Amino acid sequence: MITNFGLKLEGLLIYTRGSHKSKKEGICSMEKSILQETTKLANGVEMPVFGLGVWKCSNKEAADSVQVAIKNGYRLIDTAKQYGNQPGVGYGIQQALKDNRLNRKDLFITTKVFNGDQGYETTLKAFEEQLKQLRLTYLDLLLIHWPVDGKYVDTWHAVEKLYREGKVRAIGISNFNEEKIQELLEAGTVMPQVNQMEFNPLVQEESLFTYMNGIGMAMEAWGPLGGGEALSNPAVEKIAQAHDKSVAQVILRFDYQMGAITIPKSAHEERIIANSQIDDFVLSPDEVAEIKALNQEKHSIWYPSFAWHKGSETTGVKDEVSHWDDVEEYLNKPVQ
Ligand SMILES: NC(=O)c1ccc[n+]([C@@H]2O[C@H](COP(=O)([O-])OP(=O)(O)OC[C@H]3O[C@@H](n4cnc5c(N)ncnc54)[C@H](OP(=O)(O)O)[C@@H]3O)[C@@H](O)[C@H]2O)c1
Repeated sequence: MITNFGLKLEGLLIYTRGSHKSKKEGICSMEKSILQETTKLANGVEMPVFGLGVWKCSNKEAADSVQVAIKNGYRLIDTAKQYGNQPGVGYGIQQALKDNRLNRKDLFITTKVFNGDQGYETTLKAFEEQLKQLRLTYLDLLLIHWPVDGKYVDTWHAVEKLYREGKVRAIGISNFNEEKIQELLEAGTVMPQVNQMEFNPLVQEESLFTYMNGIGMAMEAWGPLGGGEALSNPAVEKIAQAHDKSVAQVILRFDYQMGAITIPKSAHEERIIANSQIDDFVLSPDEVAEIKALNQEKHSIWYPSFAWHKGSETTGVKDEVSHWDDVEEYLNKPVQ
């Protein structure tokens, strides 16, 4: 059982992040871009608060997006075995490191334990293959992708082993509710430092978020843009007009001000750049309240009220790796 979490209460950031205004100009007094900003995880590791997701990208799209993102200042990249694009991400990372004269330690790379690999030995075996595909010798963050019933505790023990061996700098979970988190805290010896969960104006999971803040667990938002319904919401459009920003930028700013680590996906250069340009305006408390009122707990991939599952039968999340036809090409593609 974990008795000492070494807490750093990130919860103090909620509602206050970036909300200070420069007296002179009436805009936020950021000395650095959001892409350079980090948050200290409970184990002391600094994690960028804004990065790039690559779900639904082919290997080519992932490789291109990763290179565009890193060239434009992104340092956090989020992938998963399930996305079938680790080889593209791995190639993109190495090409970008070379092109931008960066070091591996300048980046923060996350991948996840695939549902179909869960269990102790299978997680350890799959991890080595994941590292190989990503062309890395260590990971910055390894997450359990979904809590597969009957397996996630054993999976966690394997993840802890990788952490103790120094193969991952930080470890965490994804799509875990409070009950499942408590179970891991009881069974484990290392507290998960991050829970990656769906979070955007339509899905705010306030009580889970509050619980996580209370124990010093960082919240990373997947699906941070909220899809078409959020992106075409008239209330958000009005706020966007008032700030002369896009709706996507307002939503990402909201996620950020709420204290989330954010990883929007785009396969388009102009969006990858624009999505990160959210540090030149601040949402007022009234605007935050207006967006908070849009919450419907409307998950895009979910199942009734945080019911837990056994694989794809109840989640609708396929236990399949996406099979892109360019995997082989990117496994072996030489960096130029
Ligand atoms: N742990 C989990 O279970 C889990 C689940 C889902 C996702 N994730 C991670 O979280 C990342 C982000 O979530 P997500 O990809 O589901 O959703 P998202 O980032 O909220 O949205 C991505 C979608 O929004 C579009 N988009 C991006 N920027 C835009 C802009 N400025 N204006 C309008 N549309 C824009 C993208 O299209 P284009 O590409 O065409 O620009 C794409 O269709 C994923 O990529 C993945 O890394 C994790």
